[in-house]
Amino acid sequence: MIYSTTLDIILALTLSTNKMRSYVLLSGSSNRPLALKTARELNIKLGKVELQEFPNREIRIRILEDIEDKVVFIMQSTIGQAERYIIELALIADAARRKGAKRIVAIMPWFGYSPQDKIFRTGEPLSSKVIIKMLEATSINEFFVVDIHSTDVLKMFKKKVHHLSAMSTFINYFKGNLKGDWVSVALDNGALERAKEFSERLNLPLVRFDKTRDRKTGEVTFHKLAGDVKGKNVISFDDFVSTGGTRIKGCDFLKKEGAKKYYDCVTHLIVPETTDKLKKSYIDRIFITDAVHLDPKRKFGRLKIIGIASMLAEFIKKFAR
Ligand code: R5P
Repeated sequence: MIYSTTLDIILALTLSTNKMRSYVLLSGSSNRPLALKTARELNIKLGKVELQEFPNREIRIRILEDIEDKVVFIMQSTIGQAERYIIELALIADAARRKGAKRIVAIMPWFGYSPQDKIFRTGEPLSSKVIIKMLEATSINEFFVVDIHSTDVLKMFKKKVHHLSAMSTFINYFKGNLKGDWVSVALDNGALERAKEFSERLNLPLVRFDKTRDRKTGEVTFHKLAGDVKGKNVISFDDFVSTGGTRIKGCDFLKKEGAKKYYDCVTHLIVPETTDKLKKSYIDRIFITDAVHLDPKRKFGRLKIIGIASMLAEFIKKFAR
């Protein structure tokens, strides 16, 4: 075959690389930009999948990629229209199995319903477990999740689940860049384990607060537990921000306690509209990741998005060896 341009050569090399690789990366509809970034990190093209709808809005899937005897990674966060993305993921997995995939691994940067890991009031379902059982009933063999809400959720899985964290990505970003007198804070008991590791790895003192949330109104109040933030800059790391109540009220509380700057690091922003409240808050800088895609129109100066594609690519390469 005569290649007319350099681009043809690059395309041919990329396509042949895809063929030679023992794995393919497919993407659902939830966060294609992250899947494309991850494919670029792996120096492969994203596998071709037709994601369409029938006239009655039923999801229609067709895998065009050659996946025979390959490990098939399917990237899909179940966020926003989570239920639709759950079905889409299940259908892609089934199509992959029928097309001869050797193993099917769901990469779920955000695992929808994971915050519902307890029964808070009688009459409620254990929603995390319902979703896990549904997905484990599909053709998916293993799961990659990122900063899932709690170890309780991990214990609900029967199939293999790999728990990745964006914490190292944040640590690498901040290491050596926090000038002045800093402490790390756990805004609530749920954040304590993460905050302990985050403070140790950044070599910062840990200050502990706890909060109570009114289960009806969602209103949070803070109670100081241990340590002092007076005259200090404060940084926190946690898994997700939903309404923003925890960090916005937490920031007000910290500043009343004498904190100077407050940096909030959180892996998942799960309610895009919360950016409106965060923008008006007194939080000095907010760091999130691209695990959940944020409409660029919702970005603002004090918001920094840190990429996790290279972290995901590293795990894929390790797994697929
Ligand atoms: C969960 O672990 C979160 O980090 C916070 O504890 C909180 O639940 C987030 O919810 P919101 O943003 O609505 O305060």
